[in-house]
Amino acid sequence: GIKLVTIGGGSSYTPELMEGFIKRYEELPIREIWLVDIEAGKEKLDIVGQMAQRMWDASPYDVKVHLTLDRQEALQDANFVTTQFRVGLLDARIKDERIPLSYGMVGQETNGAGGILKAFRTIPVILDIVEDMKQLCPDAWLVNFTNPSGMVTDAVIRYGKWDKVIGLCNVPVNAMMAEPELIGKKPEELIYSFAGLNHFHWHRVHDVSGHDVTRDIIDKMYDGDSGIPANIHDMPFFQEQLQQMNMIPCGYHRYYYRAEEMLAHMLEEYRDPAVGTRAEQVKQTEAELFELYKDPNLDHKPEQLSKRGGAHYSDAACETIASIYANKNTHIVVSTKNNGAVPDLAPDDVVEVSAYIGATGAKPIAFGALAPAEKGWLQVMKNMELCVEEAAVTGDYGLALQAFIINPLIPSGETAKRVLDELLITHKAYLPQF
Ligand code: NAD
Ligand code: G6P
Ligand code: MN
Repeated sequence: GIKLVTIGGGSSYTPELMEGFIKRYEELPIREIWLVDIEAGKEKLDIVGQMAQRMWDASPYDVKVHLTLDRQEALQDANFVTTQFRVGLLDARIKDERIPLSYGMVGQETNGAGGILKAFRTIPVILDIVEDMKQLCPDAWLVNFTNPSGMVTDAVIRYGKWDKVIGLCNVPVNAMMAEPELIGKKPEELIYSFAGLNHFHWHRVHDVSGHDVTRDIIDKMYDGDSGIPANIHDMPFFQEQLQQMNMIPCGYHRYYYRAEEMLAHMLEEYRDPAVGTRAEQVKQTEAELFELYKDPNLDHKPEQLSKRGGAHYSDAACETIASIYANKNTHIVVSTKNNGAVPDLAPDDVVEVSAYIGATGAKPIAFGALAPAEKGWLQVMKNMELCVEEAAVTGDYGLALQAFIINPLIPSGETAKRVLDELLITHKAYLPQF
């Protein structure tokens, strides 16, 4: 039997994970699940942990869900470790969003200044987890969902020297679920090729006779659901731009391709106390979800969870684990070491790409070189990530400033430095490296 550990177990997404494992139990026979959290998340852990146990009790399978604040106890002899924690919880995210917006800059969970600060808080913690894994479960796979998922995964390999890691995101899953219907196809009738970075990838689509149908999807995506996650304002891309590149950008590309309009929309919500930033809206949804989870009769994932941007993430997480365990070689879009799949980036850069997932982990599928417009963005973004990661590890203030100045969503100048300083002070308790 398999021992599975989930760090950040108090997340409202935990029922999503349980549903995915219950669905796959026959191919992935889990024996025990350990949900790990910290003191600040204990109440959430208790509520969602009991809900998780009820979900298993309502299934035909005998699985015990352990709840603990002792990470090391949980990691002992684990086979798979999934991470879904948020350092500083939603209150830290509210600051990541509101402080940049108060200076007229994008305030977002994984993009711009907020995304950089989330990396600064998170990377030291993931590196501690990896050190524990080296001692307690050296053969385990780490399946990371914690944002910024690409940078966190890259840091695990580059600085943690831990290769058995796969980074995940639900954005590609959502696109592959929604797009086929736009052109009257079923998911199994289309072949997907993704390449880029987490929250910054593009994809092409072919049908099973080998025809490129990317353009057909581009032409239909303006009239229907293209799978954009619930947390992103649906500002349409310029159609001529997409036709020119003949690729479909990810939902987050809007922050870069329609920067002016996306910022205006965010500022509008931020200035309206009845709306607020995304984290403030999510806090409300989370409170509602935990009220539902408290119900001792609830033993299945509630519909309301689909209001969260990460809906369907278990399709990626549980399928990745099942594919490693049973050597299925399934196509999954993951953050993994490039190894030449995206020749415009270095072989040891973590990229988000189509890959086959099996017993040895991810085998990225060669995508090929990008055209100058996309290559330019990609190289800026990856090198920005590398500055962020190194600053997160060393606490080098000058490098943190470099990351801010390179980031396309942070206009350079006096204000950028002020935003960095204010965020570093605000999050001081979670930034021992600075
Ligand atoms: P959340 O605020 O509910 O946090 C989850 C739990 O992490 C909390 O219970 C918290 O107490 C716990 N935690 C904080 N620090 C911890 C630590 N050091 N060790 C163990 N647990 C700790 O967050 P959420 O909204 O459920 O999101 C969880 C994470 O998953 C976030 O990082 C979020 O950005 C990420 N996420 C990723 C995707 C994706 O596509 N990759 C989608 C959705 C969410
Ligand atoms: C997305 C992303 C996640 C992100 C989340 C935000 O779709 O893929 O990486 O964390 O949704 O959702 P939320 O509901 O927390 O705003
Ligand atoms: Mn994501």
